[in-house]
Amino acid sequence: MKVLGIETSCDETAAAVVEDGTRILSNRIASQVEIHARYGGIVPEVASRQHILSIVPIIRQAMAEAEVTWDDIDGIAVTIGPGLAGSLLTGVNAAKAISLARGLPLTGVNHLEGHIYANWLVEGSLDFPLVCLIVSGGHTDLVLVRGHRDYTLLGQTRDDAAGESFDKASRLLGLGYPGGPAIERAAKSGTASIPLPRAWLKGTNDFSFSGVKTALLRLVENGSISSPANATALAAAAASFQEAVVDVLVTKTVAAAREHRVRQVLLAGGVAANKHLRQALIAASPLPVIVPEPILCTDNAAMIAACGYFQLRAGRTDGLDLDIVPNLRLS
Ligand code: KG4
Ligand code: ZN
Repeated sequence: MKVLGIETSCDETAAAVVEDGTRILSNRIASQVEIHARYGGIVPEVASRQHILSIVPIIRQAMAEAEVTWDDIDGIAVTIGPGLAGSLLTGVNAAKAISLARGLPLTGVNHLEGHIYANWLVEGSLDFPLVCLIVSGGHTDLVLVRGHRDYTLLGQTRDDAAGESFDKASRLLGLGYPGGPAIERAAKSGTASIPLPRAWLKGTNDFSFSGVKTALLRLVENGSISSPANATALAAAAASFQEAVVDVLVTKTVAAAREHRVRQVLLAGGVAANKHLRQALIAASPLPVIVPEPILCTDNAAMIAACGYFQLRAGRTDGLDLDIVPNLRLS
């Protein structure tokens, strides 16, 4: 069964064709990063307008790359939330138009579930129950997955999301947007020599990253890190910040996996592209760790098509009244 996935929840216009929820036939992404970098962050109206310009070409590219025609497609999967309203509407309306024109079944996908299903695109089979750490720009969710659509939220962030904390730290250090890759790059030439606080929130599976960000702000304010003049101090700050965030993410994920006696640990979301996080989790986990390749961690449509396949297979289709849900949660 071949599913066309469409993703426009934030600042990537993406389309992909995936076979049987596991085999990627194409995966096209039109990034708006350069446009939003000028403003130091995402401008929602600019994002919506870019989606309008990119959506048809990117779908055409995904179809061409997969070497399929509309007759080969069995269903359409589209992100309905969480995300920016104007951005989501572009993808959902494109998906509805195709569904109507071609008489194809349509299914709306939760973007966070999509991130989890990026792991179905990794070679090898997944084994329930499992714990998945979703770390993106808007979410830090530790989720127990007992089966398809069987999610229990074990913990979440009480303030900044992990990706958001990377973005804010990068801005503080003058490293630019998007912050995650910028911090990772700067950290490569530094050592994590600056002691930064970790919020353990003992007895819970929750996270908090505002304290480490504030500690970094104090160091910048008191001149300890005079970015960008002192490259060594800057690299040490980036490495120390990255280490502080990764330390908490890994420790709490491994503890939850042990507590719930799961079979596997999964990583998902944009921050999962971070090499240090990937390596640290693999090193610390007594259980097999599955991590999608970086291009499948950040926003893409292959993960939406993969998730959509399992929904369509379970008979979960939506009508042309399908609506967006900008604050959709995992349930
Ligand atoms: O999943 P995603 O692409 O979009 C959302 O659903 O939010 O995640 C974007 C977030 C951004 O905050 C970005 O800074 C972060 O993921 N990110 C990274 C890396 N690549 C992207 N964070 C740390 N290290 C990276 N290599
Ligand atoms: Zn995402």
